[in-house]
Amino acid sequence: MDRWEKTKIGAGIGLACGVMATGLWLGTVLVSPVYPQQRSYAPAGVPPVDLAAMQREWPVAGNREEREQLKGYIGHIEKVAVFVPADTDAGPAEVPVDLGTLLASADAEKGRRTAQACMACHDFTQNGPNRIGPNLWGVVGRSVASHAGFGYSPALKGLGGQWTYQQLDHFLAGPNRAVPGTKMTFTGIRNPRERAHVLAYLATIGAGRQPFPPPQPTASPPQPKIAAATP
Ligand code: HEC
Repeated sequence: MDRWEKTKIGAGIGLACGVMATGLWLGTVLVSPVYPQQRSYAPAGVPPVDLAAMQREWPVAGNREEREQLKGYIGHIEKVAVFVPADTDAGPAEVPVDLGTLLASADAEKGRRTAQACMACHDFTQNGPNRIGPNLWGVVGRSVASHAGFGYSPALKGLGGQWTYQQLDHFLAGPNRAVPGTKMTFTGIRNPRERAHVLAYLATIGAGRQPFPPPQPTASPPQPKIAAATP
């Protein structure tokens, strides 16, 4: 290898390094990555892990035994009992609210949007047809399983009574749970607030609007007794 060849190899390596460096620089100029500080999705039902507390107990992983221990820790992370302080916001607490209270603040427009799902099977218009399910014009206050020309299931026919808001609320929460054997193959609306919106919408479908049940007075917090100061 003469000197000229060595120069060519050297120049080649130098050029390659130069191209790489330029490429890296150009990459950072063209793309400026943003690392969001929060997770793009939050896994449901998983309590936040206190990594700081876990790390305090981690071995330093200096020797083999400690490395094995560390691997064990990592492999069992999901089994670690995590201390969640009682006052953190671990999701909304399920406070049962009575139907009257929910209806008082229900939004018929929101209900109408949810009721789009019903329209796959139900017609809501006056003198409208029966479809997979019966026509629902004026269903609030109507006798159960009474719409002319619809072949109801024996289960629903056996229910009797009238569709009150409470009955509808119970039925719509889970039709098959409320009336086992019903033909209405609809999973139901789990959220009581969302059901209230739908009921508020159903209230607008019909000739006369049925009055909502009155809100139940909630147990008021105990009033501090202040002894009247006698002058
Ligand atoms: C997959 C089709 C389907 C969907 C979706 C559906 N229903 Fe029904 N619904 C039915 C059928 C079928 C019946 C008749 C049930 C029976 O006879 O057991 C019924 C019956 C009813 C009844 C009783 C009516 C009466 O005359 O007694 C009400 C009230 C009702 N549905 C409301 C709703 C509402 C509100 C929604 C939307 C949140 C909804 N349904 C979604 C099919 C459906």
